Amino acid sequence: TKKGLQLPSDFLWGGAIAAHQAEGYWDADGKGVSIADVLTAGSHEKPREITDGVLPDKNYPNHHGIYFYKTYKEDLALMAEMGFKAFRTSIAWTRIFPNGDDAEPNEAGLKFYDDMFDTMHELGIEPVITLNHFEMPYHLVTAYGGWQNRQVIDFFEKYARVVFERYRNKVTYWITHNEISNQANQAEISGFSDFLVWTNSGLKFDAETTVSERQAAMYQAAHNELVASARAVRIGHEINPDFQIGAMLNVGSLYPASTKPADQLAVQKARQQRDWFSDVHIRGAYPNEMEKLFERTGWRSDVTDQDFIDLASGTVDYLSISYYASSVIRAKQDDDSELDEAANWETVPNTNIKASDWGWSIDPQGLRYTLNELNDLYPDLPIMIVENGFGAYDELVEANGQPTVNDDYRIAYLAAHIAEVEKAIVHDGIPVIGYLSWGPIDIVSAGTGEMKKRYGYVYVDLDDFGEGSAKRYKKASFKWYQELIASGGTRL
Ligand code: BG6
Repeated sequence: TKKGLQLPSDFLWGGAIAAHQAEGYWDADGKGVSIADVLTAGSHEKPREITDGVLPDKNYPNHHGIYFYKTYKEDLALMAEMGFKAFRTSIAWTRIFPNGDDAEPNEAGLKFYDDMFDTMHELGIEPVITLNHFEMPYHLVTAYGGWQNRQVIDFFEKYARVVFERYRNKVTYWITHNEISNQANQAEISGFSDFLVWTNSGLKFDAETTVSERQAAMYQAAHNELVASARAVRIGHEINPDFQIGAMLNVGSLYPASTKPADQLAVQKARQQRDWFSDVHIRGAYPNEMEKLFERTGWRSDVTDQDFIDLASGTVDYLSISYYASSVIRAKQDDDSELDEAANWETVPNTNIKASDWGWSIDPQGLRYTLNELNDLYPDLPIMIVENGFGAYDELVEANGQPTVNDDYRIAYLAAHIAEVEKAIVHDGIPVIGYLSWGPIDIVSAGTGEMKKRYGYVYVDLDDFGEGSAKRYKKASFKWYQELIASGGTRL
């Protein structure tokens, strides 16, 4: 065991999941269909399909999740046994407003989260709650066209107000949109990006949609999401001034493929494509390069003066991030003429480091690098790590008559990353306030829909088709994380 560094005693150790990947019971107690409920199971090789509504012969893994809707009490008790100080999950918007545009919220849905948050408090666990984690009401897509329609801002505002009022004394830490910047992934403009604009914004393009039209829709949707977030922040602070409401971005460190200036510039452009989201969330205004882009292209055209007032007055209290992997960026051409529709860069493999079975590079130092970079951009803003972890195939074995998993690979990944977080806090002085690893109990993968891409300390006996006993078993990493938390981060 390596020795870690002493962290502040109020550091938020814990884990994070999302409603649609865990709860199951997708149509119970008045819940509406979400955009996650029409995603089929895929794999590393095969993208998830977005179907037109729920079709009879398809496999929809989010319909079962891990049945957390009924098992949360026992599952959260396991998290408490590990010593969790905080647990992040999302509210399924469709449990509260089944269609998104309903006049009244669904009381059964509100009651469910009341009970869940009460359970967390009984267990001494602080809830960290995401409002919009890849699960907007499907009806807002079919009837309104998703987030590119400004009416969705109002629906979100209403949803945020209802849950802020309801849980004003139960939840302090909120996150508005999960990984809002994913959709701007210009490097993969036609493949995975179709999936990302769906999960972020409920946008679906057909083959005839031009790249420019896609970009216009995506930037408009993102703008509407940012305005909705800013309005929610303002409302939240009115309802309870103690609320801590955060932005959430996926941040992988980005490295140039060579020492060529063009590659260095490409890295910078790739980063700006991500960081403008946090700039708007944190500083309340778009950076210049984005305004210039919109001037040239006419994208993000549906805006009002009030939007910019809202953005400026609804800045977030903290930044939350997910970090899994880093990327190497290569310029596609050496001259730096501006390409608006698609990026002048692509990602290439990093031959210096290993990758997971899903091709995600393993780069602990990149996490320290990224935390430093974010602190340079937004000095002294609290940062909460709300996702980090290792998706892997696990094999269930017997040890002392108990089924378990010897997941040393997961422990190695987590220990290495946490060591870098500790250096960022103790040596670099960065205000990281928590570390919530992703999927502390196995859940359905968001990217592929698989159960077999597992992140947990707790194994869930279900396969990709939802077959299995659904029993929970502690993996080797369970004890490791428990001891780490008990030691305040020193026992890595
Ligand atoms: C993040 C999401 O993108 O990464 C999570 O916020 C997701 O919802 C996590 O589960 C890991 O990705 P995956 O595809 O391995 O589930």
